[in-house]
Amino acid sequence: MQVKRTGIVALSSFYIIALLVIGELLLYKDNRESSRNKRSIFTRTNPGNETDLPLIFVGGVPSSGTTLMRSMLDAHPDIRCSPETRLLSWLMLELKEWHRGEDETHRLAEAGVVPYVLDTAVTKFMLQIIKHHSTPKSFFCNKDPLLLLDMIYLKKLFRNAKFIYMVRDGRANAHSLVSRNVTILGVEPTSYRTMLQFWNRASLQMYASCNVLGEAVCLPVHYEKLVLQPVQTTKKIFEFLDIDWNPEVLHHERHVKETLSQFEFLTDQVKKPIYLDALTSWFGKIPLDVERDMAKIAPMLKILGYDPNNREPNYGEPDDFVSGIVKY
Ligand code: A3P
Repeated sequence: MQVKRTGIVALSSFYIIALLVIGELLLYKDNRESSRNKRSIFTRTNPGNETDLPLIFVGGVPSSGTTLMRSMLDAHPDIRCSPETRLLSWLMLELKEWHRGEDETHRLAEAGVVPYVLDTAVTKFMLQIIKHHSTPKSFFCNKDPLLLLDMIYLKKLFRNAKFIYMVRDGRANAHSLVSRNVTILGVEPTSYRTMLQFWNRASLQMYASCNVLGEAVCLPVHYEKLVLQPVQTTKKIFEFLDIDWNPEVLHHERHVKETLSQFEFLTDQVKKPIYLDALTSWFGKIPLDVERDMAKIAPMLKILGYDPNNREPNYGEPDDFVSGIVKY
């Protein structure tokens, strides 16, 4: 999984991320205003220019339901996401390495590797991978979860891109990562405390970036809502994407075999129809000292709508489709 390498990001301090986000926020103020005024930018404005492609990026903290989300999109006849490329997250890390200090950036510029040249090369590389790693359909989508840490940069490269940001209760998310023993560099894989700290840092950056881009460009989707009320939630997602909703997206399990890689985590889970067990599987699993400090360890919980002091939250009622009352 990409997490191993991209986990370097986990080492960044809260303050560095906050500063970066504020910097990007200033840079992107104007773009945000214009994207707000354009509700239907998700159309290919110039078919000859590939940077105009209406790409869909699905991501979030790993284990937040990203594979389920992309499988539901893959079930749509016009959308193609496919497995994680992994490469694209590594590329983002490399890019940061190439600019590891003012000196290095200056040396690159002196050699003619100015931002425009680099951005064009990155755009072409990314497009080549996204377009050609699977069978093409009308809309290309990518799911490399931690790419969303760089959604502001991606939006600069692909002006018609849209982002689906998966949000999940950090305690369930951390439990999933710990219980699956997912390796994230700089994070003790068995420690709920450090996993929650990682979740908090990554969530802060994605949430802030999503806000900077604005609601026409980035849609936060809560995992809990996706599995409890998939009809309403997927309709909202397709309205955001400006693509006609299709009931097949509620039956990802009928299509997923065509798009799964044998190396993907969770192959067994996404082969199943939507289930609700993962909503509560973390109850009682988090050590008491971590529970006690939850509001301090993970302040993003509250910002994202979760009560850090409620140890057994009720995320809502299943809709009639999930309850089996209505069929699609
Ligand atoms: P748990 O590990 O808590 O079970 P990601 O794909 O981002 O790594 O997310 C993994 C989570 O998505 C897992 O959480 C898994 O249960 C959940 N998931 C996968 N397929 C699902 C399905 N068919 N219905 C509901 N949740 C699913």
